[in-house]
Amino acid sequence: MTSLAEVWPPFGLTLNTPRLTLRPVLDEDIASAVAAARSGIHQPGKSPFSMPWAELPDDELAPNMAQWYWRCRANFTKESWTLLLGVWNDDEFLGVQDIGAKNFSTLKTVSTGSWLKQAAQGRGIGKEMRAAVVSFAFDYLGAEVAESEAAIWNQQSLGVSTSLGYETNGIFRHAWGEKVEEVQGVRLTPATFKRPDWPLKVQGNEELKTYLGL
Ligand SMILES: CC(C)(COP(=O)(O)OP(=O)(O)OC[C@H]1O[C@@H](n2cnc3c(N)ncnc32)[C@H](O)[C@@H]1OP(=O)(O)O)[C@@H](O)C(=O)NCCC(=O)NCCS
Repeated sequence: MTSLAEVWPPFGLTLNTPRLTLRPVLDEDIASAVAAARSGIHQPGKSPFSMPWAELPDDELAPNMAQWYWRCRANFTKESWTLLLGVWNDDEFLGVQDIGAKNFSTLKTVSTGSWLKQAAQGRGIGKEMRAAVVSFAFDYLGAEVAESEAAIWNQQSLGVSTSLGYETNGIFRHAWGEKVEEVQGVRLTPATFKRPDWPLKVQGNEELKTYLGL
């Protein structure tokens, strides 16, 4: 029987770190992602996301998350793609680490975003999963720059960035709904990357690269 990864190559990507498995969120994983989000991601009223999706009422959160996973897959092209990788420790779904790019063949730049359920935060997992996708981007996709951003008050996210060697890359005023939010851009290159002391295990990268035209 044809596997899902043969149907759509990004589904075949798996990254393994000492504690974590990162792989695309499949339909059968969406309920686990919703349960993790419902368990709490951030302090109420203090959304770290430009769209405060994690605070949606219960009956809207699940369909909103499902549609976001489907939209990212449906809109995936060589020119503009976002890969949403679920993060597991054994069988426990902890959160999502995304990586994406626009015009990657020219710019060789990826951007990332992530969340973890609160019970999994503050144990170095955010750092481990970001290190995984950044190592993958530099070493397997040939990225030259990895960018990220976070509200200037988001010490957890900026803590991950600083700890991996990202440098600050400007503060921007963004409209988050009707509110102005000051957002800190950060930027990492292979030269500034404070590499983890563990090897990343990667599966399915050749098929993904072919699909991306790299
Ligand atoms: C952002 C997030 C993914 C980080 O993951 P995490 O597992 O909590 O972070 P880690 O435990 O890996 O911390 C990584 C580094 O940040 C530092 N850090 C974490 N919280 C910090 C804080 N409040 N103040 C200062 N530094 C902090 C840690 O000390 C660590 O650095 P070190 O390795 O040099 O000691 C997670 O906290 C989260 O999901 N937050 C809510 C959603 C969110 O903000 N997403 C990002 C939107 S831009």
